[in-house]
This record gives sequence, C-alpha cells and structure tokens, in this order.
Amino acid sequence: MITKPKGCHDLLGIEAKKWKYVDKIIDSLMERYNYTYARTPIFESSELFHRGVGEGTDIVTKETYDFKDRGDRNITLRPEGTAGIVRSYIENKLYGEPGPVKVYYNGTMYRYERPQSGRDREFTQFGVEVLGSNDPMVDAEVISIPVLLYKMLGLKGIVVKINSLGDKESRDNYREALVKYFTPHINELCEDCLERLKKNPLRILDCKVDKDSDILKNAPKTIDYLNEESKKRFEEVKSYLEELEIDYEVDDRLVRGLDYYNHTVFEIEASVEGFGSNNVIGAGGRYNGLVETLDGPETCCMGFATGLGRLIQALDLEQVKIPVIDDVELFVMYVSETEKKYAASLVQYLRANGYRVDTEYTGRGLKAQFKQADRLNAKYLIILNDEDLAKDEIKIKNNKTKEEETVSVDYLLYFLDEHLAEDEYDEYDECDCGCHGDHENHECGCGDNCHCHHEEE
Ligand code: HAM
Repeated sequence: MITKPKGCHDLLGIEAKKWKYVDKIIDSLMERYNYTYARTPIFESSELFHRGVGEGTDIVTKETYDFKDRGDRNITLRPEGTAGIVRSYIENKLYGEPGPVKVYYNGTMYRYERPQSGRDREFTQFGVEVLGSNDPMVDAEVISIPVLLYKMLGLKGIVVKINSLGDKESRDNYREALVKYFTPHINELCEDCLERLKKNPLRILDCKVDKDSDILKNAPKTIDYLNEESKKRFEEVKSYLEELEIDYEVDDRLVRGLDYYNHTVFEIEASVEGFGSNNVIGAGGRYNGLVETLDGPETCCMGFATGLGRLIQALDLEQVKIPVIDDVELFVMYVSETEKKYAASLVQYLRANGYRVDTEYTGRGLKAQFKQADRLNAKYLIILNDEDLAKDEIKIKNNKTKEEETVSVDYLLYFLDEHLAEDEYDEYDECDCGCHGDHENHECGCGDNCHCHHEEE
C-alpha cells in the first residue's frame, strides 16, 4: 500500500467540511476589510526564499523542499506566503497603482520539519499583506484581522503578544548588544546558536533548544535599544490597538523566526488546555525592507499568517461547534427502471433549483434506501412509483415527523419552498457572520448586522 508522505494529511469527511466553513468565514471577513484574494505559485525560484526569508533562518537552512526541475532550474516549494506576494508585487509593478495594495491568500506551504502535533510538512496558511503604507494604524488593522477571525469562529482562549524590533539603526544596535552579550557564553549554548551568533544573533532568542536557559532569559531586551523614532512608532501602534479594544501583552523577547521583520512583530497564542507547545496559531509583523531586498522600490509593508490546522485544532479543543452542513434536504427513492429514469431527471431539476439532493446509485431495494436516507440525514424523502407518475404526482415524506403527502409535480417546488424554508427558520437564527448564533453574549463581532438570537435575548 502506498501511504501519504510524513507530516501531510488527507482532509476528508466532516473535517473537510469544517475547513470549508472556515474558508467561507475568511472570504467574508476579507470582503469586509476590502482585501483582495491573491494566488501565487506553490513553487518559486529558490533564490526568492534565500534572499527573502533569509539565509540565516531555520526555514531556509534546514526546512525548504528544494529540487531541480527538468530545465535544471533551482526550485523551492514555498515555505511561507510573504516572499511570493512581494515577488508578484514587484513583477506586476503593483507599486505603480495608488496604494496601499491589500491582499490575502489561503494555501498550502511546505517545510521539512520534524512532524509533531501542530507542526506539519504540508500545512495551510491564511495570510494578509499590506504593501505601501507605514501608518501604525495599518499595524493595528492587520493584528485585528486574526483577532476578529478567531472571535467570529468562537475561539476564546487567545493571547496577543507584540514587540518592536525598531528600525534598521535600532536593530543594528540591538544586534551588536546581543553579540557582546552572547560571545562569552557561546559554549554554553547549542551548536546551531554558534552559527546564529555569526549570521543572525536575534535568532538565538528564538532557539527551541536553549529557550529556558538563564543565558537567554537574561539577554538584552529589544525595547532598550529602540531609538526615539522607533519607540514613538511602537507607542502609536499600541495606542491604535487600544482604540480597537484589542488586548495585548508586550513580550520583549519576541523576535520571530524570519529575517525580514522590523518595527512591529506579533504572535497570537492559543491558550487552550491540551494544545501542546506549538501553540502559536497566528503571527506576523512589519517588513519595510523586503521589497527593496528583492529589487523593488522602497515600500513599507505589514502582514500576518495563521496556520489553519492549528486554528481548527484549537477550535476542536475548545469544543467550539462549527456549523457544517451534514444533511441533504431531499433523498429521491425508486425501484423500477422507469422510476429510475424519472429520478435522474428529477434530481437534476431539484439541484438546478437550489436544493441539496441525493439519490440511490447502487441498486439497493426500497428498505435499504430508507436506511441510506437516514444515514445522509435526509429531511424529506421523495418516493417515486410508476402509478403516481402516471398521474403526474409525487409522494413526499417528512423523514422526521413521518407525515406523507402526495403532491402534483407542478406543485412540488412550491411545496418544498414552503416546507423546507419553515424547517430552516426553526433551526437557525441565522446571523450575517454565519455564526448561527453559536456565540455567547453576542460576541461574534459582526456588529449591527448581527441577527443572532443573543441580540434579542
Ligand atoms: P510563521 O510564523 O512562520 O510566519 O507562520 C505563521 C503561522 O503558520 C504559524 O503561527 C503557524 O500557525 C503556522 N505554521 C507555521 N509552520 C507550520 C507548520 N510546520 N505546521 C503547521 N502550521 C505551521 C510566516 O509564515 C510569515 N510569512 C507571516 C507573515 C506574513 N509575516 C508577514 N506577513
């Protein structure tokens, strides 16, 4: 038997439905923020990630899927979405348009990591990038996106951690301070940190091996090396977060694992019992120098990405009910060949009119078809028989109340419209955000348009 590669997943059944629901919420959220969907290639020239993500990062040194294509080109499966978006921004000269350019993506990324819970080799990120603004208001807006997304989905236990790496001058001063501090201790740190000290000492603070050592705990703090301008900018970002009523903690050890960041960096942790150590569900920051590094014009940018696998894991652990459609409205049943032919066209007609319909495909008898309809949670059964059809009539049965009616074919759509709409109304107090009123205290965050029943309580 051929099995799937390590660190990858098949997405099937109810799990797949949950993901599709999250995708739908993401699309509707992005419409509200007026971010445009962008799709870039899953593989790019290797140089893009070496220069973009950084030669000194774990992602590039240890985790990329690199290969040569048949034309002998060096190709890499994308380990993250930002570098590809920036490449596309430059290649398509989007900087020529009145900015900022606000885009989002939702796709698979690839990192050759040691597979464990929350850490996969193929994983999906939803991310946004804003290219062409240095306004601290944008930093706060980008942080607000995952916060609102998690809220709309009903996730409660999140902690937003922010920090500032400052501008180039501040970062250089901090880097120097770290080299001075770590050099006498280097033999006490792991082998990788020795390399990090040479290439990018900030990465030492990110070290998964030494993270609990006193040497790391007592290391210089970013905040003490910010110049006045960077300090002021960080204060402004924080004040916008307060305007947006986003709770946050300042974590002066937060540096992030990619080289392109400056000024604001942030991570959002799921503080959910049983989540394990890979609990950062979303992260991002400002990367004002990356467009230039990749040969574009000076452009200030800010973005973030959230791992959908980790997000859904957090929702599961919090036992958040994701409203997936797990039924069909109609199941069409038949026995004879003429009834079967009629069933084929009726199913097509009902689907074209917007109903969720299924039928029999494996030659089961009527009794087994009833069982199959139950398995599919069918709301109504259409039971065809030649006698009714000769009179242009159809038998329809409510699968819950077991009430049965025979209606004329001409009247069928009116009947369904009336009965299914009524059932739907009973089931949900539908809310514009799609939350179906699952959120306590009317916390879905969709504001005035919310019709979920908590509003009326
Ligand atoms: P990142 O921190 O590398 O940032 O990844 C963002 C999120 O992707 C993580 O917080 C996590 O939820 C998820 N993630 C990362 N690696 C894995 C993995 N191996 N398995 C499962 N989930 C994973 C970035 O990728 C930046 N491009 C974010 C950004 C956008 N910064 C600015 N713009």
